[in-house]
Amino acid sequence: MQLWLLAIASCLFLRAGRALMQSRIIGGHVAAPNSIKYMVSLQRSSRQHFCGGSLVHRYWVLTAAHCNIGADQMMIVAGDYKVNIFEGTEQYAKPHKLVVHPSYNSSTNNADIMLIKLRAPMVLNKFVSLAPLPRQGTGVVEGHLCQVSGWGHVRVSGGGQVPVKLRTVTVPIVSAARCNGSDSFNGNITANMICAGYPSGGKDACKGDSGGPLVCRGRVYGMVSWGNGCGDAQFPGVYTAVSRFRRWIDQTIYGP
Ligand code: ARG
Repeated sequence: MQLWLLAIASCLFLRAGRALMQSRIIGGHVAAPNSIKYMVSLQRSSRQHFCGGSLVHRYWVLTAAHCNIGADQMMIVAGDYKVNIFEGTEQYAKPHKLVVHPSYNSSTNNADIMLIKLRAPMVLNKFVSLAPLPRQGTGVVEGHLCQVSGWGHVRVSGGGQVPVKLRTVTVPIVSAARCNGSDSFNGNITANMICAGYPSGGKDACKGDSGGPLVCRGRVYGMVSWGNGCGDAQFPGVYTAVSRFRRWIDQTIYGP
């Protein structure tokens, strides 16, 4: 509980001096333009990016449940690279409905997963494609290298927003046992979560990357969910374990 408060606090109040550095993917690099074609940006009506997501069907986006700000407030942008700059490759869609996982618990972050049905389908092309998902119940072993990507937004004092190119960083999977250790998340990691990060820290997702894909073996095994600070050696990033929800995803999209 205390840890979770800490996580919220660190999400909301990044220390001023490090805010710019820490509010995006930590320790990574820019992605090649339109190289992660299933990556989408969730934006507020004001066009401010606030979360990432993955296109899993022409009509459906997979993201974190804690990215739920209400369907009316949301715009989904596919084919984006520099967020907040029109490049001509973008496609925009509004949500028709949001389907939050029935087991989602906002105080423990368990089952932090949501599907967004779009009002109109995205068109698959050179810039937009569908994300490959893992099979139900499959896992990735400790040490396996995965890639997390995001636009993590920066709010510049005085109003505006800095255009941000999509960034990406490679992080190894950390075992649940290690991640749950008393010197780390101390039992707060459920079976629906996976951890990833280096023992020395320095590479991680951060605020604004939430809902974005953690890709292992070419499939979206995780979604940015929570953490304690960003890039901290003691605390890896915590991701929703997508393979635990593959059946729910298919049932929600295609019916029982
Ligand atoms: N809660 C943050 C968000 O909403 C994501 C935090 C991820 N943190 C991390 N250290 N990997 O954007």
